[in-house]
Amino acid sequence: MPARILLIAATLFALPVHALDDPARGKELYASCIACHGASAQGDAALAAPRLNHLAPVYIADQLQKFQAGIRGGEGAGDSARQMAAIANTLADEQALYDTAAYIATLDSTPAAATVEGNADQGRGYYQQYCAACHGPAAGGNPALNSPRLAGSDDWYLLAQLEAFRTGGRGAHPDDRTGRQMRAMAGVLPDDQAVAAVVAYIASLQP
Ligand code: HEC
Ligand code: HEC
Repeated sequence: MPARILLIAATLFALPVHALDDPARGKELYASCIACHGASAQGDAALAAPRLNHLAPVYIADQLQKFQAGIRGGEGAGDSARQMAAIANTLADEQALYDTAAYIATLDSTPAAATVEGNADQGRGYYQQYCAACHGPAAGGNPALNSPRLAGSDDWYLLAQLEAFRTGGRGAHPDDRTGRQMRAMAGVLPDDQAVAAVVAYIASLQP
């Protein structure tokens, strides 16, 4: 793809979900998120709180809705997801989710550091075979499929989420259509070593 088309695509992914979403109100609401996710939404590994600034607003809003509904972070979920579900319920109305997501999309920060050891060469094979169809060849995500950007995420978070999908802590709720899709895919990876390999490969895709 020519660079200009890539740039237009990247800009579209960062657009608010609706034209009237208000990043200024989102900035005020985001004040209650900073303690865990950081002022630039860079995340905090010590709190298991992920980076958010690489994600499309539509994905952020969608996940907040799932946390509110107990589809993510409900029964069977781990402590970190339960904690986040409690916080999501403090956002008063649906527009608050979209405004916060629109604000997060305006934030930039330095790239994630590599912390997971895995065979990235082997991981490339798994990624192209099992993941690229939904997450894109360069892990940029595909909003049409609700599949998030993975490039730019922290490797420790990718690892933790793949483990959560594999063990049913995420994506097992009967109403979690997209989560169940992803849970099936996480289960295709044969063992922990394969999970680490695919995570190491995704981490190598950062710009
Ligand atoms: C007490 C700490 C804490 C606060 C405050 C907090 N979060 Fe979180 N958040 C977390 C943790 C921990 C996770 C990871 C959940 C998991 O492991 O599934 C998370 C996950 C998320 C995710 C999912 C990201 C992904 O890629 O899966 C989104 C979106 C999110 N938080 C948005 C917010 C917003 C918006 C606020 C403020 C309204 C907020 N969080 C406040 C701790 C927090
Ligand atoms: C059929 C399409 C599909 C395939 C194939 C797929 N995924 Fe996903 N993936 C998704 C969707 C949809 C989500 C969002 C799930 C949700 O809504 O909670 C997701 C979420 C994720 C997340 C959570 C990211 C975050 O920030 O919350 C990770 C990590 C992930 N996928 C990794 C992978 C890996 C690695 C592979 C290959 C082994 C893969 N996916 C294959 C559709 C897919």
